[in-house]
Amino acid sequence: MKTLLFAALLGAALVSAAQGADGEISFEYHRYDELRKALVSVWLQCPTITRIYTIGESFEGREMLVLEMSDNPGAHEPGEPEFKYIANMHGNEAVGRELLIYLAQYLCNQYQEGNETIVDLVHNTRIHIMPSMNPDGFEKAASQSGEIKDWFVGRTNAQGVDLNRNFPDLDRIIYVNEREGGANNHLLQNMKKSVDENTKLAPETKAVIQWIMDIPFVLSANLHGGDVVANYPYDETRTGSAHEYSASPDDEMFKSLAKAYSVYNPVMSDPQRAPCRKNDDDSSFKDGITNGGAWYSVPGGMQDFNYLSSNCFEVTLELSCDKFPSEDSLKSYWEQNRNSLVNYIEQVHRGVKGFVRDLQGNAITNATISVEGIDHDITTAKDGDYWRLLSPGNYKVAASAPGYLTVIKKVAVPHSPATRVDFELESLVERKEEEREELMDWWKMMSETLNF
Ligand SMILES: *[C@@H]1O[C@H](CO)[C@@H](O)[C@H](O)[C@H]1NC(C)=O
Ligand SMILES: *[C@@H]1O[C@H](CO)[C@@H](O)[C@H](O)[C@H]1NC(C)=O
Ligand SMILES: [Zn+2]
Repeated sequence: MKTLLFAALLGAALVSAAQGADGEISFEYHRYDELRKALVSVWLQCPTITRIYTIGESFEGREMLVLEMSDNPGAHEPGEPEFKYIANMHGNEAVGRELLIYLAQYLCNQYQEGNETIVDLVHNTRIHIMPSMNPDGFEKAASQSGEIKDWFVGRTNAQGVDLNRNFPDLDRIIYVNEREGGANNHLLQNMKKSVDENTKLAPETKAVIQWIMDIPFVLSANLHGGDVVANYPYDETRTGSAHEYSASPDDEMFKSLAKAYSVYNPVMSDPQRAPCRKNDDDSSFKDGITNGGAWYSVPGGMQDFNYLSSNCFEVTLELSCDKFPSEDSLKSYWEQNRNSLVNYIEQVHRGVKGFVRDLQGNAITNATISVEGIDHDITTAKDGDYWRLLSPGNYKVAASAPGYLTVIKKVAVPHSPATRVDFELESLVERKEEEREELMDWWKMMSETLNF
């Protein structure tokens, strides 16, 4: 957090604060300075539930701004899941950027009006909203004159890097591990230094990687444009072929998450919707969702990176055929997506959640939570808290940690809310001590009985 940023933003935004207070959303494009002002005006309107921070700078030095919303901004609350939305990773895909600004305004307005759905959501979730991951690309795209924007100008960052091909390609590692054995999660563990030193990573990519590593995100979506579909992992195919269904171990949950978005978007879920362009191959789309690899293979994408490097499940949302549509259409995009955007955040409250502690009640950090039949473990956060997204069903869930006895529990998971399951793990040292005492007691009893 930079105090300086606050001071600068505050000065710039006092004017727009007044217009934000009446709760109106202005459906227009926001250039870099306007984006900053819009976020600050939300902060000024809802100061007790919001915070603005930056995760780093773009290549040209623009801030990568995040608006956080929670009943306790600035802190992870033990047991409370964290959620993020990221948009405008391709700088010329502008709809998601605007929708996230409107979403921030909407959540703040509804919270103030006492809308119970939104109040509950804000009280029980830490929500992070980043309208632009590629502020340089957006400025380039937006500064083209005329209504019609080029299909590619502004897609990459200022160095010409496509940020959604720039993440460490962990799919290649997981596909080897699937065949030969090896970790099934947190594949970047103990490789932090190699990320810091990797010169191929754009500053925007590095900042996001750091962000993913620092915060125990549970669920996320990456907002794009150019088509209309909710795309779920894996994005990169196993064989390297261009199109091939590439299921992750959590295929069922991912389908359910993607549908939780598409079902409330009347355009995305419309089975009669014509492809965006006449020759587009939408044959992998069903109910407004698609597996990433089945559509087309993307190596080095952010979605798979989240899932394979952290506990965070991410889907990629394509929101509009036009990447940079005319300003007067923005309101209708908001109306198409509003309920989806809210409903998708609510998915963070599904599956199984709880705490892993030792017998004295101390948190066990970095304990492993595994689910029988799903070859993808997740780990506990700093306070021993965990969130394991799962579709409805009966599961065997195990908690384990080095030096402790593993505990397995049977859990029935409804659609929602998440089932609370806490684990108490006995340390092996304690167990050995107990066994020694039992042996001593037995020995004592034997010797008394036998009288020696
Ligand atoms: C409260 O928020 C929910 C979720 O966005 C929305 O569906 C509902 O219409 C809102 N209620 C009112 C009274 O505005
Ligand atoms: C977390 O646990 C795993 C496996 O037990 C281990 O390899 C890793 O180094 C641990 N990470 C941290 C940050 O302690
Ligand atoms: Zn894109």
